[in-house]
Amino acid sequence: MEKLVITGGHALEGTLRVSSSKNAAMPLMAATLLASGVTTLKNIPRLRDIATLSHVLRITGAGVSLEDHTMQVDTTRIGFPEAPYELVKKMRASFYMLGALIGRCGRARVSLPGGCAWGPRPVNLHLEGMQALGASIDLEDGYVVAKSPQHGLPGGTLRLEPSSVGATINILLAAATARGASRIENAAIEPDVVVFCEMLQEMGARLHGVGTRILEVEGVPALRPVTYLNCPDRIELGTFMIAAAIAGHPGNTVRLTHARPDHLGAEFLEAFARTGARCAIGEDTIDVTAPEALQPVSIATGIYPGFPTDLQAQWTVLLTQCPGVSTVQDTVYGDRFNHIPELARMGVRARVHGDTVTVQGGTPLSGARVMSTDLRASVSLVLAGMVARGTTHVGRIYHLDRGYERLEEKLSACGIDIARVQYDEFASPSPP
Ligand code: EPZ
Repeated sequence: MEKLVITGGHALEGTLRVSSSKNAAMPLMAATLLASGVTTLKNIPRLRDIATLSHVLRITGAGVSLEDHTMQVDTTRIGFPEAPYELVKKMRASFYMLGALIGRCGRARVSLPGGCAWGPRPVNLHLEGMQALGASIDLEDGYVVAKSPQHGLPGGTLRLEPSSVGATINILLAAATARGASRIENAAIEPDVVVFCEMLQEMGARLHGVGTRILEVEGVPALRPVTYLNCPDRIELGTFMIAAAIAGHPGNTVRLTHARPDHLGAEFLEAFARTGARCAIGEDTIDVTAPEALQPVSIATGIYPGFPTDLQAQWTVLLTQCPGVSTVQDTVYGDRFNHIPELARMGVRARVHGDTVTVQGGTPLSGARVMSTDLRASVSLVLAGMVARGTTHVGRIYHLDRGYERLEEKLSACGIDIARVQYDEFASPSPP
């Protein structure tokens, strides 16, 4: 098992490069199944989730290679339209195989993803969407068994309530090669979805309304392989902005490169500006200058262009550095607060009530041994360790490795005292 050991009190300085997007890369990988041949995806991050989805693709018969952030997927022979429980339970986005295999093979047997670290993550919208397109859906032994009619999916109209990133993507994967036309109302418009839609269009999909809440697609028999460039990771960008605001030396500027500031959405950028941190936005850079004193800014998450739920744990750590009482409400996942008890071990004074956490900021944090519980919770513990007095051990960082590429290398190159260390989680501490 591996942990990160961080000794706080060192200023973050210099330039941090944002890696490419995890949550855009995965739908791009699923889309390769819709075109027989070799698709090349550039700017793919080397992450656990990418490795897991690569394994899922190989099980269907695809060949997958990743060299220096360029992925090649050979989908010439797809003979096994299944995605097993052992992999889908590890990584929910494997559920995209449902739409991709229906779109390619007309049938699919995909494990239900089950819950995740912070509670149920339903897929009803995915299943209802496939049925609206004309697929038959049966549940057998924890698997979704889907079939298209013999002459292909007729297509159909459906409305997503609530708007769902995953359901929008999954349904489009099936609709792009349907026999008829389809219409998705209240579709997700997150940047990850837009980048995915633009790749489908490059592949020959007849898709209209990209970036709006009404998507219309006329099915085509098959799509063609392409070479496509993935976008930067907006959640890593937001994470690094928060890191610079709380750990940057007041008055010094930290530069973030390979950035798409517009992908963060207006609400996050406005909230960030209200903290007093200065933010200079370039074409593909953001310069952050920490203020002498941060101001507390309460936020509520929302679907894009609202405040990203994937940044609420990190924002909570920022609020611990601001004197005064403030709140973080998660309207997307009302129970995504597993990081709070771990932060409390470091001296954070926060109370969860319903879908909101109230933070009493301004109290100094102290290093402790803490445990990652999910991807974004784990990075919030690293941020807290950067500003805590003493040393913090963040355990179970396999959660972190799902979505942050070489994080400790990036941070240690920018002044932070952080190292990856092997440890035995079950070793009892030796007597003093
Ligand atoms: C995507 O998850 C992201 N994952 C999540 O990021 C992100 O938190 C989430 O979107 C919201 O932005 C990937 O892109 C791989 P949703 P997804 O379907 O698609 C409800 C990370 O940290 N819902 O948009 O699963 C759901 O309960 C991960 O990188 C249904 O009710 O999210 C939630 O309240 C964590 N029924 C809301 O919709 C459904 O069938 C939005 O969820 C599907 C969703």
